[in-house]
Amino acid sequence: MVTPGVTVHVVPDAPALADAAAEWLAQRIARTPALTVLVATGQTPMGMYAQLAERVRAGTLDCSGVTAVQLDEYAGLPEGDPRSLRAWMLRSFVTPLGVQTVVPLLDPAAFTGRLAALGGLDVAVLGLGPNGHVGFNEPPSGPDAPTREVALTPESLRSNAAYWSGLTVPTRAVTAGMDVILGARETLLLVSGAHKCAILSEALDGPETPLVPASFLRRTALTVLADRDARP
Ligand code: F6R
Repeated sequence: MVTPGVTVHVVPDAPALADAAAEWLAQRIARTPALTVLVATGQTPMGMYAQLAERVRAGTLDCSGVTAVQLDEYAGLPEGDPRSLRAWMLRSFVTPLGVQTVVPLLDPAAFTGRLAALGGLDVAVLGLGPNGHVGFNEPPSGPDAPTREVALTPESLRSNAAYWSGLTVPTRAVTAGMDVILGARETLLLVSGAHKCAILSEALDGPETPLVPASFLRRTALTVLADRDARP
């Protein structure tokens, strides 16, 4: 069962996912050059961002009018810490795409105010946590959960350890709230790999529940791009 308003595209593998996702966002940037985009880090969207950067280098895409909005950040990191998710967003998306405007996520109140002044998000680009989180809206998170500091679950600490070999994973984070994410005019959820298959099925086919925060994405104009391992 998939809700009306939700489109699910299944592609053969991760490279095809990167191509389809890049095309999805490039079309929207071409239509609306001043697009405001919530930008996930994590492994899943990296191929998409590389494809977009390729288009920018080739001169077929101009992202200079785009505003990149930070989705989440570990709490309490010193300036210049290599684990910063903002730094990851800058090196994978903002710099290679030539994006000129960034809304950082430092203080939840300042972030919420800046987003309101921008008129909200046009697009949210999201990955799916192995426990159903989006951003760091860990279970349980309801649809009204605000931008806030959270404690990371053991599952997220484990999955994030893969990003920082030899470094510890901070135990707390600040995340854009479910209210911000669900307010995006369109959402793109990228899911890759057999380890995401069961949680994707819960998010799309199970009940809406704070225990699977991604299940609330079905309330939005949602496009899911999954590879066959994640959605056989
Ligand atoms: C990253 C983020 C997380 C990840 C999710 C999936 O900014 O907010 O919600 O999108 O944990 O991570 P990957 O893509 O590494 O499997």
